[in-house]
Amino acid sequence: MRPAGGADLPSPGRRYGAALTTPRIVALPGDGIGPEVTAAALEVLARLGEFEVEAHAIGGASIDEHGTALTDETLDACRTADAVLLGAVGGPKWESTDPEAPRPEQGLLGLRKGLELFANLRPVRPSPALLGASPLRRERIEGTDLMVVRELTGGIYFGERGRTAGGSAFDTCAYSVPEIERIAEVAFRSARRRVTSVDKANVLETSRLWRETVERFAGDRRRAARGEGADPREDDVELEHMLVDNAAMQLISRPRDFDVLLTENMFGDILSDEAAMLTGSIGMLPSASLGAPEAPGLFEPVHGSAPDIAGTGAANPLATIGSVAMMLRYGLGRESEGAGIESAVDRALEAGLRTADLGGAATTESATNAVLANL
Ligand code: IPM
Ligand code: MG
Repeated sequence: MRPAGGADLPSPGRRYGAALTTPRIVALPGDGIGPEVTAAALEVLARLGEFEVEAHAIGGASIDEHGTALTDETLDACRTADAVLLGAVGGPKWESTDPEAPRPEQGLLGLRKGLELFANLRPVRPSPALLGASPLRRERIEGTDLMVVRELTGGIYFGERGRTAGGSAFDTCAYSVPEIERIAEVAFRSARRRVTSVDKANVLETSRLWRETVERFAGDRRRAARGEGADPREDDVELEHMLVDNAAMQLISRPRDFDVLLTENMFGDILSDEAAMLTGSIGMLPSASLGAPEAPGLFEPVHGSAPDIAGTGAANPLATIGSVAMMLRYGLGRESEGAGIESAVDRALEAGLRTADLGGAATTESATNAVLANL
């Protein structure tokens, strides 16, 4: 399991304040299965003590209510919270290729940008009980414990885009040196032995800047670690560069060799879904999005809103429960309680808990109860 690390990473600033007063959590249930998994995760959180929870609409739910996927009021509420827990956004109801139509995803992207949550941490650690549920053979997957560190507020997601008079469309990918440096720093702090920096430097100019900047950052860090009064352990983390297409392949052929995968925004989006399947189901993967030291973190499952099973009570709540564990660790400075939730999930799985996505019949409710019983 990953070391505590919370205090070394962005967004730990509120933890001390939060420890003294009742933490204020903004819950953004969103769409599809979002409300069901959020309710389940909040039930687990409530078991740990007192939390003030305030719910707001986001995504499609907010479009229906207010005509926009993220209102200023919701963003302000998040800004002043100690942490934000999000379910999922999106669904067929709001799908459209009309560039003028409001989109649920704008809520999530607006929140990431509005809170400047530039660092997205997606740990991939298949639960021992689920080794048989992975599409890969057990021998290949055993011992995998990696973290995707994805840049979250730059790149093609936020570059200039549009349609031209001639009927074409374009999206631009841009990165600045400081944007690359700050995410590289998070990656190195999260690593225990190696940072694999992913890019497409054989084709893209942004990737060449990415590679050059990460290389320089690692060199400076190594030199600083050798200096007087420095922490020599910082010298231990090695850096390798990997082209994104090759990384997609290596992730399947030798997942346990990876420690931290450092990626720009879109490569991280794609590789983290791929990495999620190593755990047997995308329904298992939690995430944390962190920003400036004083900013609240955003915690959410990696999976989407799964509209096909919304309302059936069959959604797997474990990724959102895992996101609450990350919230305790990275957002509220309550590492041991976060680890406690993670072991309760492992024990419940060992005792046979399987939701439909894992080939079982457990409902959202029975899965939540199984975790609570092991807490
Ligand atoms: C994710 C999601 C989002 C993304 C979507 C919903 C905008 O896929 O968090 O990985 O692309 O970042
Ligand atoms: Mg994604």
